[in-house]
Amino acid sequence: MSIVVQLAYIFSALLFIFGLKLLSSPATARKGNMLSSVGMLIAVVVTLLDKDILSYQWIIVGIVIGGVIGALVARLVAMTSMPEMVALFNGFGGLASLLVAWEGYHRAPESVDMFIAVSTVLSVFIGGVTFTGSLIAYGKLSGKVNGKPMLFPGQQIVNFLILLAAIAGAVVFSINPTENMPVFLGLLGVAFVFGVLAVIPIGGADMPVVISLLNSYSGLAACATGFVIQNTILIVTGALVGASGIILTQIMCKAMNRSLGNVLFSGFGSGGGSHKAQGDVTGEIKPVSAEDAFILLEAASSVAIVPGYGLAVAQAQHACRELAEHLENNGAEVQFAIHPVAGRMPGHMNVLLAEANVPYDQLVEMDTINPIMETVDVCLVIGANDVVNPAAKEEESSPIYGMPVIEADRAKTVIVMKRSMAAGFAGIENLLFYKENTRMLFGDAKATLQALVSEFEN
Ligand code: TAP
Repeated sequence: MSIVVQLAYIFSALLFIFGLKLLSSPATARKGNMLSSVGMLIAVVVTLLDKDILSYQWIIVGIVIGGVIGALVARLVAMTSMPEMVALFNGFGGLASLLVAWEGYHRAPESVDMFIAVSTVLSVFIGGVTFTGSLIAYGKLSGKVNGKPMLFPGQQIVNFLILLAAIAGAVVFSINPTENMPVFLGLLGVAFVFGVLAVIPIGGADMPVVISLLNSYSGLAACATGFVIQNTILIVTGALVGASGIILTQIMCKAMNRSLGNVLFSGFGSGGGSHKAQGDVTGEIKPVSAEDAFILLEAASSVAIVPGYGLAVAQAQHACRELAEHLENNGAEVQFAIHPVAGRMPGHMNVLLAEANVPYDQLVEMDTINPIMETVDVCLVIGANDVVNPAAKEEESSPIYGMPVIEADRAKTVIVMKRSMAAGFAGIENLLFYKENTRMLFGDAKATLQALVSEFEN
């Protein structure tokens, strides 16, 4: 391969790495995305010009079909359905890696040495698991497949035996790849089955973590395919996706105070999604009207807003920003307290608030707001539930016990905005709603926020 191509690949790799770095802050994320996209464009164009390809006609057909589907999906899919879309992207990424590696092997099986054979096996197995696992994750998130963990006796033993069979098949194939097409196909089938079996025992609530993990797998499959077809930039890109996916998975697990093993094997959520708080829930629900909530907010000199999934569902981010501006004009200090797993995908609240032009410096993390929560006059919880549930600190038997939460209950007054007493994603009762200092402002988040804004404007 010519030196120009290699230099272009190195340049692309640098753009990916700087792009990833910039993605770590909301202020620079757009630029990071742009840099990485340019890196990918360079990598694709250089690969096409390198002529080591099938035919330009088929590539153009692929680009047109993929481009149309991608453009439609990007326009039509709601922000709240983004995790489902990412699940599908990961799945098709895994499938693409698998197919490319398969083609590499199929083209000339007799010239495949052991190194290429091992790379092929890794690509096909990881790609296959990623494909079917991602389809199940998509199904669970979109409600097309039952979101509850599907458990059966001896499940982990069955999974273990399948994994053993895959390893045995991989060894047999790698020793003699030329004459082992049936073993190769068997391995492919085993990978598909394993992807399904690995994801069905995991509950819908844990799907975002699983998707992040599958994202990492899709990167590893691409990396292995890079070795099969000897393409440097595919190896680098795959490794970057693999590493960043696993780091994100760990961040999410930490934010939920659970290990990855617990997420993958515990069947979290199989209790039916109606776990009640243990013991007596003391206190009573104190509903409040928008007029009364306005009086509390108008008198506040510091307000902490805790956004959650309900804010995204209601698409209330713009109304939320307007209210924050009124509060500031009224002399209050306003901060947005962001929990790392609020919403349904990593950075969900950051993206939502950025869309509404909320200044980045108003966003604070859990570790910043919790120590000063007692000084906050009003904590306004908008469509958040699990991430402010004091059961995480107070109730050892709770499924979320130990999860770091935003300690809204320690504010002088708490106003919780939601439509009903329904549970959040974890399916458990929220002790915050019964606290002495809590007022429940029932209604759709957008309509209620608009009502509060009108109160300020009148
Ligand atoms: P949730 O606990 O899921 O609660 C959201 C609340 O929003 C619900 O209780 C719902 O109550 C309310 N709501 C829904 N639509 C609304 C509307 N139109 N207007 C007002 N309120 C509305 O949300 P959260 O506090 O953001 O917590 C996120 C959950 O997802 C956590 O359990 C977390 O562990 C899990 N999770 C998140 C991630 C990531 S990466 N974000 C990953 C894995 C798991 P009503 O129906 O009564 O309105």
